[in-house]
Amino acid sequence: MPLRSYSKQNAVDAIIKKKKYPITEIAIAQAPVNIALIKYWGKRNEELHLPANDSLSIALDLKTTTILSQASKEDEILLNGVALSENNPFYERTAAFLSLFRPSSNFFFRVETKNEVPTAAGLASSASGFAALVLALNQFLGWEASTQDLSILARLGSGSAARSLFSGFVRWHKGKLDKGEDSYGIHLPDTLSELHFGVLLNATESKKISSNKAMLQTKETSPIYKTWTNQAHLDLATLLRSIEEKNIPLLGQTAERNSLFMHATMQTAWPSICYWNEKTIVALQNVWKAREQGLTVFCTMDAGPNVKLLYPKKEEKSVLALFPSLWCIPLLWE
Ligand code: DP6
Repeated sequence: MPLRSYSKQNAVDAIIKKKKYPITEIAIAQAPVNIALIKYWGKRNEELHLPANDSLSIALDLKTTTILSQASKEDEILLNGVALSENNPFYERTAAFLSLFRPSSNFFFRVETKNEVPTAAGLASSASGFAALVLALNQFLGWEASTQDLSILARLGSGSAARSLFSGFVRWHKGKLDKGEDSYGIHLPDTLSELHFGVLLNATESKKISSNKAMLQTKETSPIYKTWTNQAHLDLATLLRSIEEKNIPLLGQTAERNSLFMHATMQTAWPSICYWNEKTIVALQNVWKAREQGLTVFCTMDAGPNVKLLYPKKEEKSVLALFPSLWCIPLLWE
């Protein structure tokens, strides 16, 4: 039977039954950046950002703050204090998302987004951005939606935003339903305060190909894509076990291999996609060398050249001695 296709608007209307006018003049919300340990790479539904596999992330103590109010003639969108023009890609993406929620066709929003890190640092600011925007809309328009529903709405902005509503470990279920009402993030209660995190900033320019486009190209052309979804499923089970056992080496090893597999799928796409630069390769080799010398340190990489390190707290001094430029970022557990 052919799958029924639903639009983003259908998915929104299933959650927000009645469009409401603002119940407050201004709404302010915050959401954390998340880093996937088991990656989301490929969609089962492009329009609704429904993933082909479950993913799992950790929240960083780095947030995006969004201030929402009403604008008069058109949407006003400010990113880190700078008003964006209508042809800016971030403006276009945000305004298209806001159109799903306008109380009337001539209602416009003013959105002020502030990131604690430069947007170009490649720390998934679109995920925390859409999560903060949805939280602000919930207040502004008085939806009183559940966190589960807010995660679904954030997913429609950017898939990984479904995981940015929560602290700690978060699992995003791929779900099975066509409309995606079973595809949302869930906070996992376990904590692992011994786990530490840092970033090696290998470049700050923005990516050449969006993750959205790169995922599709991978899914359509990589001969190992099918193996990826199977392996991601197995990796998730191992990662959940590592959390339960508070086993950082198992967690790090599983996350690193999962990330390398994701990059292998895109590198074997045609045309091939590679987000790495020379510094990424050097960093990777240094991580492997450090491990050979007995250090417990692992890495994960997303759609950019930066390398993120995972290690136990007790190794921080040794890790910093080997990677003096490492930017240590606390994890967010509460
Ligand atoms: C490599 O969430 O940016 O960071 O749903 O198309 O907006 P869209 O993609 P996006 O992809 C994130 C990809 C990733 C892995 C991850 O965060 O799981």
